[in-house]
Amino acid sequence: MKPLTSRPAQRISGETEVPGDKSISHRSLMIGALAVGETTVSGLLEGEDVLNTAAALRRLGAETERADNGVWHVVGRGIGGLVEPSEVLDLGNSGTAARLLTGILAGHPFTSFLTGDASLRSRPMSRVTGPLGEMGARFVTRAGGRLPMAVIGATDPVPISFEPPVASAQVKSAILLAGLSAPGVTRVIEPLPTRDHSELMLRHFGVEVVTEEVKGGGHAISLTGQAEITGRDLRVPGDPSSTAFPVVAALITPGSRAVARGVGVNPLRAGLYECLTEMGARIEFTNRREDGGEAVADIVAEAGPLKGIEVPPERAPRMIDEYPVLAVAAAFAEGTTCMAGLAELRVKESDRLTATARGLAACGVEVEEREDALIVHGRGGEVEGGATIETHKDHRIAMSFLVLGTASREPVRIDDASFIDTSFPGFADLMNRLGADIAEEPGH
Ligand code: S3P
Repeated sequence: MKPLTSRPAQRISGETEVPGDKSISHRSLMIGALAVGETTVSGLLEGEDVLNTAAALRRLGAETERADNGVWHVVGRGIGGLVEPSEVLDLGNSGTAARLLTGILAGHPFTSFLTGDASLRSRPMSRVTGPLGEMGARFVTRAGGRLPMAVIGATDPVPISFEPPVASAQVKSAILLAGLSAPGVTRVIEPLPTRDHSELMLRHFGVEVVTEEVKGGGHAISLTGQAEITGRDLRVPGDPSSTAFPVVAALITPGSRAVARGVGVNPLRAGLYECLTEMGARIEFTNRREDGGEAVADIVAEAGPLKGIEVPPERAPRMIDEYPVLAVAAAFAEGTTCMAGLAELRVKESDRLTATARGLAACGVEVEEREDALIVHGRGGEVEGGATIETHKDHRIAMSFLVLGTASREPVRIDDASFIDTSFPGFADLMNRLGADIAEEPGH
């Protein structure tokens, strides 16, 4: 356990870059490992989750190495060319790594064993093993479809057309990645669009991926398998989910103005920024550009009054990881913020609905937790703080409440900061450079 305390900051100001996008980093290594020849990746997130993916791919026969200049080199083995690992693949804390890799392994005719930390071993895998089973792979899991799990890849994978019952980019991506090994067209039909980093990156590698509107809303993504893909050069943009922390800290700490440079602003990740704008936040996107198919911009955030809003449930897939930090912003707003359609928050790295509600209540904020909704009664800029927050080993809960502590009256302590490194190595230092006061002991 590594407790950390965030004491009220004078202001959050200055310019920063943020670590690389976690979703795109995982995909760059995995798709690089399926390409023939060398892929280079600059700006890779060197968080524990992504490093675990790199190690797993090495065990599967792909080279994934960091050069001294920070650029990662991946030497891939071609689609279907990975080799049976002699050791268990440990994906640590990462649901994305576990689910996407399961998709890849489902299309390789050998047996592998996957595990992870206590949090990952409690998360449902049946959402991917179900459809991947239809493609011909077999799985042996613990009760409830949990890790550790054996994956027996299909010798002759068959393409499927599948409509996931939950909006999940991980499920979509797992099926598409398995579809790379299958002859013919693999299709995923999404009622609500989820992040499309897999589609954009596969296109960048030369795979034909088609996205079409379907009747009754939603859309279908299809790709034709067994193409040969060759290595590419990639640059990973800054992670908009990580950027949310300094941005919200700037919005709620009076007198602040902060700039985050080179952040990914893919519209399917932009739900939080839509909410904040509706709340009256002073946020600007400048210097918009495109890189490797992904939209990138600088984000400028300035403190000012916020007001409560209704967040529609259909926005959830576009901001699924950002509800805890939105709830923190809502606590400082004038009026009530209602967030609905949050059932998926209960099966993330922790039950984020309960963790957020309890943390806010401990900081003196009135909250109502429903089965799949959270209602925050804003305090109009005056949040008490002064609590120790149980993070349940969840990096985003930890960072959200350290952000709350930058602007609350009393310091906020979190019970364990060790999991922050899964997605945001150097978080406290970056925040402190912007003016936060986050340290191991109060008063340091
Ligand atoms: C991710 C998708 C989301 C998100 C996770 C990263 C991805 O999960 O919560 O942090 O990279 O595809 P779901 O797709 O399961 O909602």
